[in-house]
Amino acid sequence: MPATAKTPPTWLINTIGRIRNALGTASRSAVPANIALLEITQGAWLTQALYAAAQLGIADELRDRPRSSADIASAVGADPGATYRLMRALAANGLLKLHRDGRFSLTRVGQALRSDYDGSMAPMIKLVGHPSHWEHWGNLLYSVKTGDSAAEKLRGMPVFDYLETDPEYAKVFNDAMTGVSAMAIEAAVPAYTFSGHKLIIDVGGGHGALLAAALATAPDARGVLFDLPSVIAGAGPELDRAGVSDRCTKTGGSFFEAVPEGGDVYLMKTIIHDWDDEKSLTILRNIRTAIAPNGKLLLFELVLPEGAPSHPGMLLDLEMLVHPGGCERTPSEYRDLLARAGFRMTRVIGTTGPMSIVEAVPA
Ligand SMILES: C[S@@+](CC[C@H](N)C(=O)[O-])C[C@H]1O[C@@H](n2cnc3c(N)ncnc32)[C@H](O)[C@@H]1O
Repeated sequence: MPATAKTPPTWLINTIGRIRNALGTASRSAVPANIALLEITQGAWLTQALYAAAQLGIADELRDRPRSSADIASAVGADPGATYRLMRALAANGLLKLHRDGRFSLTRVGQALRSDYDGSMAPMIKLVGHPSHWEHWGNLLYSVKTGDSAAEKLRGMPVFDYLETDPEYAKVFNDAMTGVSAMAIEAAVPAYTFSGHKLIIDVGGGHGALLAAALATAPDARGVLFDLPSVIAGAGPELDRAGVSDRCTKTGGSFFEAVPEGGDVYLMKTIIHDWDDEKSLTILRNIRTAIAPNGKLLLFELVLPEGAPSHPGMLLDLEMLVHPGGCERTPSEYRDLLARAGFRMTRVIGTTGPMSIVEAVPA
């Protein structure tokens, strides 16, 4: 399918990526190895600083004009001295700018912390820094020693079952998925032509952000949003906002049992990476049973490059290990997995973001 005119060419994106990696390597080689390592380690502290800022809504308070930290502390109900220290640390790391008059403003990157920013990172930061998520990552060592999910060990049940029992954390999780969907949608949806299809089914579609965007580009298609009943119960606003609710059915159920039938496009965004091969095969075989003979299966995943080049999927792979117990995969691993489920992988489509689209058809 042709990319739209808006999509920068892949060679340009790859070249920019290589230049960024080279600059990062050069920056690290400019300091002693232990200092470079300390700076990397402090990333954990910066994540919590971002979490505190996101929870307090500091970026939202800075949306319109530079303000003093005292002013912000009073607006968000925090300690003035500690708020200054937090904002200074964020300024030292390029998220805020400290002006000569003592007021702070948002930098270009800091703008993405605003809750109303298009593709805001605030929901993702609220998940990554959340005390429960933080506790799970604190047990990465357990996952590496055993190969099992640390979250499952800590909560005594698989992480998606746990989400059903913890509405507050579940909301944080679902908001984060919707938030990163905005980025994925911006990058991925223009890379595929959805028009011409009749029934688009988003399996494990969360609150429907991807389905809404796909339907918006395919005015003659209907959609089915399929996820666990508790997640479907919270779906609606995304579909309403995109003006596609009247073409969309919401269905609750488990993809380990069955998925809605007859779709000519099945979407699964960041689903297969949640599961090991055995569970992934159950989901894929259920789709194989349900898909129309001429249907297409599209997996939106951070497909890993071979080897170990810099790629955001490498750390997301550890997130999958710690949480659901799944993994990221390379193109050849997807090809093999899909073949075992009765699909033939036709291509891997690059997007302007780190996410790729793995396209497969019934074999
Ligand atoms: C990583 S999230 C991705 C959500 C969405 N596709 C997106 O990208 O925003 C995984 C989704 O799988 C859903 N899920 C987990 N277990 C499920 C099951 N057994 N049946 C259906 N959906 C399930 C979760 O509720 C969640 O919405």
